[in-house]
Amino acid sequence: LVAPADLFGAGRRNSVGFDLSDEGTLARIEAARTSAHVVAEALTVRPATGEMQPITNPATGEKIGEVIHVDAATVTRAIEDAHVWDAPPAERAAVLRRAADLYEENFGAIFATLAREAGKSLPDAVGELREAVDFLRYYATEGEFASGAPRGIFGAISPWNFPLAIFSGQIAAALMAGNAVIAKPAEPTPMIATIGVRLLHEAGVPKSALQLLPGRGSVVGTALASDARIAGMVFTGSTATAQTIARNMATNLAPGTPLIAETGGLNAMIVDSTALPEQAVRDIVASSFRSAGQRCSALRCLYVQEDIAPHVIEMIKGAMNELVVGDPWFLTTDVGPVIDTRAQTGIADYIAQNRSRILHQLAVPAQGTFIPPTMLKVNGIEDLDREIFGPVLHVATFRGEDLGRVVEAINAKGFGLTFGLHTRIDARVQEVSEAIHVGNIYVNRNQIGAVVGSQPFGGEGLSGTGPKAGGPNYLTRFFKPAAAPAAN
Ligand code: NAD
Ligand code: ALA
Repeated sequence: LVAPADLFGAGRRNSVGFDLSDEGTLARIEAARTSAHVVAEALTVRPATGEMQPITNPATGEKIGEVIHVDAATVTRAIEDAHVWDAPPAERAAVLRRAADLYEENFGAIFATLAREAGKSLPDAVGELREAVDFLRYYATEGEFASGAPRGIFGAISPWNFPLAIFSGQIAAALMAGNAVIAKPAEPTPMIATIGVRLLHEAGVPKSALQLLPGRGSVVGTALASDARIAGMVFTGSTATAQTIARNMATNLAPGTPLIAETGGLNAMIVDSTALPEQAVRDIVASSFRSAGQRCSALRCLYVQEDIAPHVIEMIKGAMNELVVGDPWFLTTDVGPVIDTRAQTGIADYIAQNRSRILHQLAVPAQGTFIPPTMLKVNGIEDLDREIFGPVLHVATFRGEDLGRVVEAINAKGFGLTFGLHTRIDARVQEVSEAIHVGNIYVNRNQIGAVVGSQPFGGEGLSGTGPKAGGPNYLTRFFKPAAAPAAN
């Protein structure tokens, strides 16, 4: 799908791609890797206080920088210093578009930082930058024509797995509704957040309208969600953290303060016996192992109809064998590291506890936080007790007559983010799409990589509050609700 040009303003379409086979492009990324040293920092009106923490490259274990983890007193000062951005909407939109241009111009530093700090492969880094730029331009255009009053100061708390795209999308939406934003990046990825906020300031966002507070969730996140001066929170991350934030807000903030939360998923795919195996296998492998499975949208539990299951599982093994696991810096790499040693240990323990279920597993480099891409046999999604945020695919088989029960079992988990269906029966697409409770349904394709503007993204149930990011209803939650007309 291609979004109409006017979604992005000024006759623009989604961000252009970057040609990684072009030597000039690669030279700029390489130069940024070796020369540009991004200093992660708090970007606040008054100086920040806190303690310095190391930043590590997950693929190599090498220390690549340091960042201040700000203390609760800095959060209080930042809230005191925050001012809503009262420029007219057209001016705010022009500034966000200028920031989008600056993001694109600085692609070398952005790709290098995404690879070194977040373990992103270069193709994933390209997708991430494109998504960030799309969010900036899309919300600029949406907000330019929206009417409504700002709510006040928004806390924006983001995850490390889309540390530029989701981070920038939250900020752009809150700013385009005229709010002030205090952004807290995830602990592992403050360098890319620093680049983003510096470019937004350079484009013209006032420092009092956008401050960056790197630090711990338990300190900075808790302080933001517990301060009565906060008028709204936008959060992307795990379901458990969203629930903690909601509890803090309910105790300390004004009733009705919005929490816009996009959270985790236990995403399933059903492949029936009419599916084209070659296409299904390509999409299964991309959905499960791309980005080392560190996407909220990633496939966790695959159901294959039993008459084609042995063949499809053998084909998945073959396709897995083609994956190159290694340093994401190399263009030949398909699967990079997981984000840190804590994630690595947790996922490795899970695989070890389930070693009797292993259908297939790859080897990985000894150095760095790698997890071997792994396929586990399960009876059904009821065997999965939580989201495993890494390259682990669970596979179950089903009989044709049990399709309805499979859909019920998926719904019964309570998550509702993405769902994939491979079938050549049109009526089944209709029937299953109506019965499944998820935000995004993908038919005969992979189930990752929603596109801003044309595929709004977000879930229901334990997967999020809505409204969907990158869609036409998102900005409305960032404005004050319109007052009801007075009764006669
Ligand atoms: P996380 O919940 O551990 O952390 C997310 C953010 O919350 C971080 O900035 C963290 O510092 C902060 N935080 C932690 N404790 C906090 C607290 N008590 N109060 C306030 N803030 C706190 O998630 P993560 O590991 O960074 O990201 C992975 C998770 O995010 C996965 O569950 C994934 O499915 C989900 N995710 C969802 C989407 C979506 O669009 N639905 C997109 C990306 C990631
Ligand atoms: N929007 C991201 C995806 O669709 C999370 O993969």
